[in-house]
Amino acid sequence: MYTRTVKEDLSFRGIQLTSGRHKIHKYPAMLHPNLVDFLIDNYANKNDIVFDPFCGSGVTLLQSSIKQHKSIGFDINPLSLLISKVKNTNFDIQKLKNEFNDLKNNIVSGNNTDIPDINNIDYWYKESVIDDLGKIRFVLKNNHYIYSDFFIVCFAYTCRDQSLTRNGEFKRYRIQKEKINHIANNVFGRFFQHIEDIIDIFDLTNCHLAKSTHQLCNSEKPIDKK
Ligand SMILES: C[S@@+](CC[C@H](N)C(=O)[O-])C[C@H]1O[C@@H](n2cnc3c(N)ncnc32)[C@H](O)[C@@H]1O
Repeated sequence: MYTRTVKEDLSFRGIQLTSGRHKIHKYPAMLHPNLVDFLIDNYANKNDIVFDPFCGSGVTLLQSSIKQHKSIGFDINPLSLLISKVKNTNFDIQKLKNEFNDLKNNIVSGNNTDIPDINNIDYWYKESVIDDLGKIRFVLKNNHYIYSDFFIVCFAYTCRDQSLTRNGEFKRYRIQKEKINHIANNVFGRFFQHIEDIIDIFDLTNCHLAKSTHQLCNSEKPIDKK
């Protein structure tokens, strides 16, 4: 038996889970930002540093930064750290837009592809999708954009979005064979639209953010105590 100490309803039913900057990339078992806000408001003292040892997509880190708490996050997954870092960055929006225009021109006018050697890649992606993702990858790898991290996270979002995995599930199941023919390739459209949407969100949410640090942490790379 336990005694209930929190009386509030913390399910946040009806309130969107991924809103604001969190929309940049989906992640399994994301925390609800309102839950993190509740925990910080109720349990963190002024100047406390918030720690999330399995920070995933960095919901805890961003909400802490917004509430002016420094934060530290660890994760074994490099993508999680990249998402966390990008979410916690204020960009110069005009420069970001200029780089995006350049990136877009390079993608639509280029023909080179960079396709990684992944076992079973054609099980998860249609051939034309592999080709178009390869074109974006080539441009990202061969241009030195100041904001390349931002574009890489949007690219990762597109890779998942344009794959043959079932929507709404994080475990990787391929959609049914008979449905594959009805799936259209929209790699460029989705990539460009996602970047535009997320730039708008970052533009609206540029605000003073407290510092957050993110570290890759596993048995081979233990915590950096510095
Ligand atoms: C459920 S997810 C966390 C999601 C996060 N709360 C969010 O809102 O996005 C769990 C995370 O733990 C990480 N993880 C699992 N084992 C780990 C380990 N041994 N060391 C560091 N991170 C680990 C995974 O990579 C994953 O990102």
